[in-house]
Amino acid sequence: MTGTIDRAEVFSLLESFASADAGIAVVGSMNADYTVTTERLPQPGETVNAGPLRVLPGGKSGNQAASAAKIGAKVRLLGAVGQDSNAEFLLGELRKAGVDVSDVLHVPGPSGTTVITVDSHGENTIVYSPGSNAQVDVDYIRDHASVITNAAVLGLCLESPLPAVIESAKIAHEAGVKVLVNDSPFIPKLPAELIANSDILLVNEHEMSQLLGLSEPEDGDWDGVDWTAIASTLHDFGYEQAVITLGGDGSVVVDGDQVERISPVRVDAVDTTGCGDSFMGTILAGLAAGLTLGRAAQVASYVSAYAATGAGAQASYGDVRQIRELFGA
Ligand SMILES: Nc1ncnc2c1ncn2[C@@H]1O[C@H](COP(=O)(O)OP(=O)(O)O)[C@@H](O)[C@H]1O
Ligand SMILES: [Mg+2]
Repeated sequence: MTGTIDRAEVFSLLESFASADAGIAVVGSMNADYTVTTERLPQPGETVNAGPLRVLPGGKSGNQAASAAKIGAKVRLLGAVGQDSNAEFLLGELRKAGVDVSDVLHVPGPSGTTVITVDSHGENTIVYSPGSNAQVDVDYIRDHASVITNAAVLGLCLESPLPAVIESAKIAHEAGVKVLVNDSPFIPKLPAELIANSDILLVNEHEMSQLLGLSEPEDGDWDGVDWTAIASTLHDFGYEQAVITLGGDGSVVVDGDQVERISPVRVDAVDTTGCGDSFMGTILAGLAAGLTLGRAAQVASYVSAYAATGAGAQASYGDVRQIRELFGA
């Protein structure tokens, strides 16, 4: 395990992201998140009252792109929106964050949506309607291959059809563009072609355990587990590099033979929705700026902790000035 850099160094790295020439491509999903808060979740057939409806910009890829762009990275997003009012809403929010959405596909029908219910304990139910996200196909990706090949790094998640995700990875891999894959929403069997054409895996602790067939520590103490053995299992699985996020406990970076424990950054957490995506967006930005995976994760630890202090996903992301201010840096 290697050491943690100090806060001043983290913020000088974060400050450097805006001057990186190298860009990021993100391929994937955008969703309008329809969110209500209830005392308790309804049973089947039951109606319960909720607080006011909030419609917030989301979708894992949109979130990852927004997070990276807000901290200064150059980001282009490939994905699809529908022909409803959410299309302009989603694109407008991404543009405000600084994401280049000029290559996003417009298709008939509704944009991607999620219907989210959150109870008074923070427990939730989420229903995902892919809408336009389902129409991101191989032809569209091939037509926009230059967006990927002109980037330094590509970010992928699994909210889009797998053939398009795999094609994106192949195009990037052939062009020497680094590929970061987020196995989320989780699928237990990552296609061999995706593994072969990607460089770095990013998963949370639950996704990692399921993917590698490991049992989670009963006491929730991830510091008690043998990370060197996990690193070696990850290598056998096909990844020399990986990031495992541990919620409020921070994260672990596997980079070849090195295992680095990244401490959590303490904040008064309000809503951790979208923290994983914020973390991933920052890793993408850090890699584009030429940082090692470990350094990028140290910066991501601060950026994603900031995201825990506000409601929603994209709505909770900060720019460099706001993040500096929160941490008095
Ligand atoms: N309560 C929290 N306090 C501080 N940082 C947090 C908190 N929750 C999440 N984070 C940060 O966000 C990262 C991603 O969160 P995590 O819950 O692991 O992802 P996911 O949303 O995919 O489950 C964590 O590694 C951590 O750096
Ligand atoms: Mg989590």
